[in-house]
Formats: sequence, C-alpha cells, structure tokens
Amino acid sequence: MHRVEGKVAIVTGGASGIGRGCARRLAAEGAHVVVADRDEVGGQRVVDELGTPHRFLALDVTSEAGWKRVVAETVKQLGRLDILVNAAGIAIFKDIERTTLEDWRLINGVNSDGVFLGCKAVLVPMKAAGGGSIINLSSVAGLIGVADAPAYCASKGAVRLLTKSVALHAARSGYNIRCNSVHPSFIDTPMCDAVINGAPDPAKARKAFERAAPLGRMGQVDDVAHLVVYLASDESRFVTGAEIAVDGGLTAM
Ligand SMILES: NC(=O)c1ccc[n+]([C@@H]2O[C@H](COP(=O)([O-])OP(=O)(O)OC[C@H]3O[C@@H](n4cnc5c(N)ncnc54)[C@H](O)[C@@H]3O)[C@@H](O)[C@H]2O)c1
Repeated sequence: MHRVEGKVAIVTGGASGIGRGCARRLAAEGAHVVVADRDEVGGQRVVDELGTPHRFLALDVTSEAGWKRVVAETVKQLGRLDILVNAAGIAIFKDIERTTLEDWRLINGVNSDGVFLGCKAVLVPMKAAGGGSIINLSSVAGLIGVADAPAYCASKGAVRLLTKSVALHAARSGYNIRCNSVHPSFIDTPMCDAVINGAPDPAKARKAFERAAPLGRMGQVDDVAHLVVYLASDESRFVTGAEIAVDGGLTAM
C-alpha cells in the first residue's frame, strides 16, 4: 500500500477512464495526486472521492500556458513533483479517405502536442525533486496500424518515439528522470464505449473487441493502472525508454 508513498503526481485525463483509474491506484499507494482535466465537474468528482490531500486543477493539455500554471500550482500546493501520467486523449475512428485535416489536427493536438507539452513542463520541478517518472499513454495503435484510425495511430506513434527521446535526453543529462510509454488495447472506458456505441451493431462490436485479444476479453482500467503504479514507483528504477503493451496478447500475434 506504500509503493509511491509521499510522491506527488499529476494525472491528466484523470476525470475519466484510465486516468481516473491511475489517480485512484496512485492515491491508494500513498501518492498525493493532482487530477488535471478539462472536465471540471468530472475531475472534481474524482478528487471528492479521493479526499485530502488530493487536488483538482483544470487543464486543457493543448495549452502551454495551462501546463505552466498547473505545474506551478502543484509545486506551490503540494511542495514537489515526482510523477506525471499523460492519460488525456481523444479518438476519432474514420479511415484516411474520411479523415479531414481538421480531424487530424484535433487528434494530434491533444494526443501528441499535449504529451509533448507535458513532458517539457515537468522537467524543471522533477529535477528539483531529485528525479521523477513520466508515463505516457500511447496505445497498441502506436505499435501497429488500424485501418480506421490514421490520425489516432499517427498521434500514438508520435507518443511512442517522443517518450524514447525524452528518456534518452534525461538519462544523458543525469536528471534521474525516467520516461516510458504504455500501450493498451481495448480497455473498458467511456472512450471505448463511445466507439462501440457508434458502430452499426454495438453488441457485435463489443464481441469483436473482446475477441481481439488472445486472452479473450477487454481490459479493465486497473489492468493499466497497476502497470502505471509500477512505472511511477522506484521498483522500475532501471526502466526507461520502454514501450510496454497491456493488451491481452494482441500484439504478440
Ligand atoms: N480505452 C481504450 O481502449 C484505450 C486504449 C489505448 C489507449 N488509450 C488511451 O488512454 C488514454 C485514456 O483513455 P480513456 O479510454 O480513459 O478515455 P476517456 O475518454 O475515458 O478519458 C479521457 C480523459 O481525457 C480528458 N481530455 C480529453 N481531451 C483533453 C484535453 N484537451 N485536455 C485535458 N483533458 C482532456 C477527458 O476529459 C477525459 O477525462 C487516452 O490517451 C487514450 O488514447 C485508451
């Protein structure tokens, strides 16, 4: 219960799904958590569930000024910053012929620019804390192609290699800051529900999602959150620049 005791974490996208699960697990393991999300009602609800000393701070991850404010507020209110979980993200499922430039920019703005800005914003306070751990939510769609998701695949592929670049720079600079990417397959969250419910036959789509993984089911939020706690904790102190799939074996095929 004390795997990240006393560490301070920012979790973007913490109002829902995987981010919410990570915020809850990190708090259960002793971290002080800042839930950062553009959904103020949902984010505040999560923090009300978690109780003191956890905080909600409004953030649109595409705003560099927003990141500066949230990082400064975190350090002011909680004293330090050790962990960043970049879980905020959006998905649009359309093939290349139907994807507009506007779709492309929207997806890449949140999923790629947002993670870039986050990694950049936390280095100074993590250095001041003597080190840290950055965990970026990519996807299996950052490892393999998905015909109906060109913009999403591109954004998640960008997160995969951005992560390695940040990891190498931090290691070379002696910052004691690690950076890793996590690659889930279908996880049962509101994002996945939206995709399933948008399909012509939602029941069939859910079955297909369940069968996609050799383990024969969709993932649960805690399947990802347990890995994130490991990467956030000192147990993973020799792990950096890694890409770790949480996909029930999907990318082993
Ligand atoms: N659910 C899956 O099957 C799955 C699979 C692989 C990867 N992922 C990735 O995991 C992450 C979390 O996904 P989820 O399924 O929990 O989604 P979700 O829709 O349940 O939650 C996403 C959260 O991100 C927030 N958000 C979106 N845009 C934002 C912005 N500009 N600024 C701040 N917050 C913003 C939303 O308000 C929401 O709280 C995403 O990066 C997603 O791409 C999800």
